[in-house]
Amino acid sequence: MSVTQADIPTAVDTITRAKSATPVEAVMRAENLRKEYPGGDGPVVALRHVSLEVRPGEFVGVTGPSGSGKTTLLGILGGLNPPTSGRVVVDGMDIYRLHPERLARFRNEYVGFVFQEFQLIPYLTALQNVMLPLVAAGVPRKRQQEMAEEALARVGLADRRHRLPHQLSGGEQQRVAIARAVVNRPPIVLADEPTGALDSRTGRQILDLFAALNGDGITLVMVTHHADNLRYASRVLSMRDGTLAGEMGSP
Ligand SMILES: Nc1ncnc2c1ncn2[C@@H]1O[C@H](COP(=O)(O)OP(=O)(O)OP(=O)(O)O)[C@@H](O)[C@H]1O
Ligand SMILES: [Mg+2]
Repeated sequence: MSVTQADIPTAVDTITRAKSATPVEAVMRAENLRKEYPGGDGPVVALRHVSLEVRPGEFVGVTGPSGSGKTTLLGILGGLNPPTSGRVVVDGMDIYRLHPERLARFRNEYVGFVFQEFQLIPYLTALQNVMLPLVAAGVPRKRQQEMAEEALARVGLADRRHRLPHQLSGGEQQRVAIARAVVNRPPIVLADEPTGALDSRTGRQILDLFAALNGDGITLVMVTHHADNLRYASRVLSMRDGTLAGEMGSP
């Protein structure tokens, strides 16, 4: 087949289209992670040969027995815990090669964290707790309050905003923690056993809230022991002895 002049624009179009039709960029990519912690009898290998991709809008569940490396993996993905080797790339940034200040900014702008034990500041009100990431980001004071109020309303706690953590139930405290995690509108939320300290009914409410946030476009990675919690996940990664043992697909 001969190519004529008239064919050329079409060919260029095709190339351009092929480029824009490449698979959606991973929001987060981990490459060959290894993590060793110092131990009495030599290093403990908490992760080895772990590679994964998280794509925009996914709700990834991570499960596996105690000690399999789930928390370690989440901390590495979120910029909290450097791997011994391997790398984490988010939005084109090799995050552990960033200057420490840039890494701190990455954590503030790109990831929200939710932990099992809520980790609210006990002497700050719900509203003040939710404002904290905005203070760190240098958002103007008035805007801080508006955004924090919006985030608290999103988790159904507008009327509890002036309470201290100990004046809230466990489920409410976790909702404040979730509001704090999303107030800065990060693209990714990482949650480590977010229902672990809650009774099953309250835990389900928290999962419903995560599902709703995921529906709003937030990408989620949630670590959990409980198979029940995984039914909202679009994909489930299973860990064993520091490796990704497999992908279980949609539950
Ligand atoms: N700071 C640390 N120093 C030394 N060893 C650690 C440290 N953190 C974790 N480990 C070890 O690394 C391994 C993985 O721990 P990790 O906390 O990631 O597991 P996990 O899957 O989150 O467990 P769990 O379900 O109990 O929370 C374990 O053997 C643990 O003892
Ligand atoms: Mg853990």
